[in-house]
Amino acid sequence: METFDVIVLGAGAAGMFAAIEAGRRGRRVLLLDHARNPGEKIRISGGGRCNFTNLHIAPERFLSRNPRFALSALKRFTQWDFIARVDAAGIAWHEKTLGQLFCDGSAKEIIAMLLADLHAAGVELGLSTTIDSWAKGAGGFRIGTSRGTIAAQSLIVATGGKSIPKMGATGIGYRIAEDFGLRVTETRPALVPLTFAEQDLAALKPLAGIAVEGRATANGTSFDEAILFTHRGLSGPAILQVSSYWREGCEVVVDLMRGRDAATALREMRGQAGRVAIRTALARMMPERLARHVETMSGLTGNLADQSNARIEALAGLIHGWHLRPVGTEGYRTAEVTLGGVETDDLDARTMEARKVPGLFFVGEVVDVTGWLGGYNFQWAWSSGWAAGQVA
Ligand code: FDA
Repeated sequence: METFDVIVLGAGAAGMFAAIEAGRRGRRVLLLDHARNPGEKIRISGGGRCNFTNLHIAPERFLSRNPRFALSALKRFTQWDFIARVDAAGIAWHEKTLGQLFCDGSAKEIIAMLLADLHAAGVELGLSTTIDSWAKGAGGFRIGTSRGTIAAQSLIVATGGKSIPKMGATGIGYRIAEDFGLRVTETRPALVPLTFAEQDLAALKPLAGIAVEGRATANGTSFDEAILFTHRGLSGPAILQVSSYWREGCEVVVDLMRGRDAATALREMRGQAGRVAIRTALARMMPERLARHVETMSGLTGNLADQSNARIEALAGLIHGWHLRPVGTEGYRTAEVTLGGVETDDLDARTMEARKVPGLFFVGEVVDVTGWLGGYNFQWAWSSGWAAGQVA
């Protein structure tokens, strides 16, 4: 039987980072994945440029049943530590917006850096390997795989969540956790477009392709970013962000003119050149198709000059607070991440080790820690992987 000090399951961001760190400590590490290539999500991330971290990492930008859990790992291996690695590898990067750091060239450069580090740390990479069984006995862990049973003192589970099954996501990590007696919180798709009932969609469809710099609010949490109307419903960064807070039955409130006062602008237009249709006035502030839609929703008729202050206030209220009721999300097929996961109370926040199962670790997306859009999820993968790699 093959024997290693550490087996890491899942060669994504978190698993590769944990394996590198354990290997650097002189541990004999085997990194297993059923995929043919490591880091597939890194490759497609950030539109192929990988938004690998964020300058503004803070625990309140992560969702978890225990919001303080992520703090320790994020403080021990920070965004600055990861940036230093990227710099040392000679990878050029830039800040796009809101502290989001992207490669100038390609996400493949991040994968190449990690592969070089894995190689230098002496980690053995076992790709195209299925994981069939897992157990712990007196001598450590025994993992049944398509290349036979493999034994190790430590097991790091980095198999990610359920998002994008087409790319190899299986949710196996949750089963492993439960089999070892850890709890798993409810999981659901997050950072995902929102969908609508047929009759609402029929009204939204003509707006497909329109994007506005707006504000989306769900369950009391707001995000100021772009909102995109699609054939299936609503998307764009602001919507993906609020999707992590939205729950079935809740409304999403959209501000189509964030940072401007629609009522003042409309009153000024009424005073200067009010003999125009309402949609014509609105089209000076937003895309024309959207202007027509807002006019229809408002139920107002006639010219802008015909409208009382009260009606203009009501129209502005609609522009700044359009209430929509999604019926669901596009699901794991397109979700960037999975909300929920291995219960953080069952893990040591400093090391990611299971409290009741010495030698068993969970890192990355499989854990109940989910970041905002914008490089937060990769930073969690690096930080939690690093933490486990120091002790596994
Ligand atoms: P990850 O999912 O990366 O890796 C898990 C690994 O386990 C995979 O290699 C998989 O093949 C393997 N595995 C699963 N089941 C297995 C089984 N049964 N047997 C063997 N192996 C198995 N985040 C961010 O910060 N910035 C960004 O720009 C983006 N962009 C982005 C775009 C898209 C389209 C998606 C879907 C996601 C993002 N993300 C992101 C999120 C980010 O990709 C995600 O949070 C991390 O990849 C999570 O890293 P993990 O290593 O935990 O899981």
